[in-house]
Amino acid sequence: MSSFQLAVLASGTGTNLQAILDRVHGRDGIEVACVISNKPEAKALERARRAGVETAVFRPEDHEDRDARDAAIGDLLDARGVDLIVLAGYMELLSPDFVRRFPNRIINVHPALLPAFPGLDAVGQALEHGVRVVGVTVHFVDEGVDSGPIILQRAIDVPYTRDRSQLEEEIHRVEHELFPRAIRLIAAGAVRVDTENPRLVHVDEERAV
Ligand code: GRF
Repeated sequence: MSSFQLAVLASGTGTNLQAILDRVHGRDGIEVACVISNKPEAKALERARRAGVETAVFRPEDHEDRDARDAAIGDLLDARGVDLIVLAGYMELLSPDFVRRFPNRIINVHPALLPAFPGLDAVGQALEHGVRVVGVTVHFVDEGVDSGPIILQRAIDVPYTRDRSQLEEEIHRVEHELFPRAIRLIAAGAVRVDTENPRLVHVDEERAV
């Protein structure tokens, strides 16, 4: 397989980034080319440095507006020949121009069974609603909030105790499995958006990844 370059955008602790570094980076021709954050203090950046991966920070206040900042991020990604942009807890909305610049090349992980509970604090929203089942969704990013075509989903039963930290731990465990799997499937060419129905994503799960 020829080389497949990832960029990971992260704002926080970066446990999903770590899962990608541990489970995907440097295997089967897939490389994390760079890790980008809007926050210089993001722990995700430390994780990248420890793995010897290039880092870059694009703080909102250093750019005229979001469009200008995202254009600069896009230029870096193009310069690095990035094939797939992975949002792993990136807490900024990307500009519509950026999303259009990289069609079906941006993915996100969300801690809910979308389209239920998009946006911030999905776990809190789900517990508040009283659901029995939550889950994890990996999806392509479109111009909306957590609204793009769904690639993989996995359901998780809410524990009887409804203990939030226990539930979050389980969600993270599933994210750390599902997100790397989605990346490996995309890199292997096993993921394709339907030509007739752009909401529908065909995933050849039989592909050994
Ligand atoms: C994850 O729960 C992900 O679903 C959401 O942001 C969180 C990031 O966590 N988009 P981490 O920084 O990867 O630990």
